[in-house]
Amino acid sequence: MNTIGVIGAGQMGAGIAQVAAQSGYRVLLGDVSLDVAEKGKAGIAKRLARAVEKAQIEQADADAALARIEPQGDHAAFGQATIAIEAATEREEIKRAIFASLGKVLSAQAILATNTSSIPITRLAQAAPDPARFMGVHFFNPVPVMKPIELIRGLATADDTVARVEAFAQSLGKTVVHANDAPGFIVNRVLLPMLNEAIFALGEGVATVRDIDAAVSLGLNHPMGPLTLADFIGLDTCLEIARVLHEGTGDPKFRPAPLLVKYVEAGWLGRKTRRGFYDYSGAEPVPTR
Ligand code: CAA
Repeated sequence: MNTIGVIGAGQMGAGIAQVAAQSGYRVLLGDVSLDVAEKGKAGIAKRLARAVEKAQIEQADADAALARIEPQGDHAAFGQATIAIEAATEREEIKRAIFASLGKVLSAQAILATNTSSIPITRLAQAAPDPARFMGVHFFNPVPVMKPIELIRGLATADDTVARVEAFAQSLGKTVVHANDAPGFIVNRVLLPMLNEAIFALGEGVATVRDIDAAVSLGLNHPMGPLTLADFIGLDTCLEIARVLHEGTGDPKFRPAPLLVKYVEAGWLGRKTRRGFYDYSGAEPVPTR
């Protein structure tokens, strides 16, 4: 059985592991400790159980997918992986440390891919065991639902690496798009200015949280309003991507909204801290402005 490694058992890593396991891959799911990796697997078990309840998948298929996911507390077993996907916290020093550790165990043919949403691939490649077998593979949240995968090659990425990762992405039933190694790639370059502008509008008193979300969601037929989506992504992540766009292009149109900066400084990071543009401590989200 083809083995895939996923490093990071949070929202993105667990989603990637779930989709790969449901597509028949054996998945090594690593995190900072075995306990954290097992918690990631427990979350996947819940989502698979819900899919069975909704009669979207058979119980036997859910069981088989779950059995293919093997939580790991260290990287020793990742030598068996043909592709290792790093989906850890969006901090460069953390990613570099993971690459250094994987470099000791990955096989000479293995590909290392990163799910970074904002860090330049060519720069990260400098910390990879082999820049020719390194590239970006950007999934969207929630991974089991969202169709696209952005593939981003660095300057040194080999054609064969792109071809192998593209074949893998297609085997997950995803739609592959190719992007150059430019700030924000495609989706975040287009999305972040919209989210940021909604936050500017809120900060300038154009409308309330509820009205901005209702207007954009209904007016543009988006499944979520921009402030709900920003909370869903995480306001720290939104700010990080806005800064990458701003610094990477030097274009003032990407400057982060002051209210976004303030919320992140307050530790109001969206759903994950139960407070962002909405308060998530009750049964229903309540707008905070
Ligand atoms: N994990 C797995 N599946 C999930 C999920 C999760 N966290 N959340 C929802 N789903 C699934 C549900 O199981 C359900 O599946 P079925 O229809 O097959 O039963 C489906 O999504 C719809 O869910 P719900 O009915 O509960 O809720 P909804 O209709 O409100 O949809 C949503 C939820 C799919 C998240 C939808 O609101 C949506 O598409 N929102 C926009 C998401 C988006 O824009 N994502 C991109 C973020 S940007 C990004 O990821 C890039 C980056 O680098 C920042």
